[in-house]
Amino acid sequence: MISQKEYIKRRKRLTKSLQINSMTLLLSATQKTRSHDTEFPYRQNSNFYYLSGFKEDEAALLIVKTKESIKEYFFVAKKEPQMELWTGKRLGVEKAKEIFSFDDVFEFTQLQEKIAAFSAGIDSFYYDFEESQARLTSLKSELKSVECFYNVASIVGALRLVKSAAEINLIKEAINITKEAHHRAMQVSSKLTYEYQLQAEIEYVFKKNGAYSDAYTSIVACGNRANTLHYISNDKALEKNSLILIDAGCEYNYYASDITRTIPVSGVFSDAQTELYELVLSVNKAIIKMIRPKVLRSKLQAKSEELLCQGMLELGILHGNFQELLDAKAHKKYYPHGIGHWMGLDVHDACPYKDKDGKEIPLKAGMVLTIEPGIYLDADDKSVPKKYRGIGIRIEDDILVTKEGYENLSEQIVKEMEDIRLFKSITHTSNSNL
Ligand code: GLY
Ligand code: MN
Ligand code: MN
Repeated sequence: MISQKEYIKRRKRLTKSLQINSMTLLLSATQKTRSHDTEFPYRQNSNFYYLSGFKEDEAALLIVKTKESIKEYFFVAKKEPQMELWTGKRLGVEKAKEIFSFDDVFEFTQLQEKIAAFSAGIDSFYYDFEESQARLTSLKSELKSVECFYNVASIVGALRLVKSAAEINLIKEAINITKEAHHRAMQVSSKLTYEYQLQAEIEYVFKKNGAYSDAYTSIVACGNRANTLHYISNDKALEKNSLILIDAGCEYNYYASDITRTIPVSGVFSDAQTELYELVLSVNKAIIKMIRPKVLRSKLQAKSEELLCQGMLELGILHGNFQELLDAKAHKKYYPHGIGHWMGLDVHDACPYKDKDGKEIPLKAGMVLTIEPGIYLDADDKSVPKKYRGIGIRIEDDILVTKEGYENLSEQIVKEMEDIRLFKSITHTSNSNL
């Protein structure tokens, strides 16, 4: 769990980088309509959550920084018994004053009036361009003296890059639940008929273990569907001689996991599947080994491209001179995505990759990133050797950068071919934990 002390520390780090005579507004996420009058499950805005730990909607954080003082004001929804009957209890102003250490707490409906009251002498205004744009339009009349508008999301994003010990623990918790889910998928895949049934098995494990949500829509793609990078319909049959690409990770207490395993429906890899799997696995391992402080993500990208290009050449997927193919990025046709991304409160954590001067940010202890090389060979691609057509493979792990190098947080999730096979055959005979 994240302590109140840690939230206070985070806000202190934020206020340090704010201008004098500035006002900063962060808003809770709004409810999103699913259909007619029902909403998607509510999920707090990550930046707002990072600074407050507050999970309700209709809330705001307002920071007023002048030469004399820094004041933090919080706004929460009014307690309305009639509404609470339908949508649950609200914390309310009085309780929020007790729990949090803000300078003052008001009702959310007072936001506009308070912004007007605190706006004298304010010339800079920070807000989240994405989350708060609509709201700002209605506040424009209160912000007449403001000359500069800044995106607070990019400042908070930079703060979120290096994770605290408490955050790392939550990520580990998420990965641990996701491990159970992937292992269950390995156990049961041969007994199921449809991709969505496998998805249900995975998400059952998430929910059962207190991860109420997935961190992103699960991808359960059998055979050629794996060549659609974000295949999420998961509505086709599991074909017994095919591989299934499973990209699924739960969110636990707001922290993501993001894991891909590619497994044979039957538990056993064919020769062609083995050749491709070995290539992707070797790249996954080689790139993970490169991780340590000061390394650039672009170096990891370049090395993954080099290794995959070389492998594709050796397998007869590409033809010609290695250096020319690499320079022409011929491998991009079959490995079109990046080697990985930051991960944290968001699966693709909204943290910067470049600093203010446009220079790439090197790895640093406490950062968490995914490593996810892949190869995607479409069933209709006649330029690919026939035996490889219709195969898509990605192997994705979540890595913590440490002072000494790295810790593979998803090390325990089986990825060796032999382990996948054994895992399946062992659990086939003893169904005790299904
Ligand atoms: N699950 C999306 C990704 O791997 O980036
Ligand atoms: Mn990923
Ligand atoms: Mn993924």
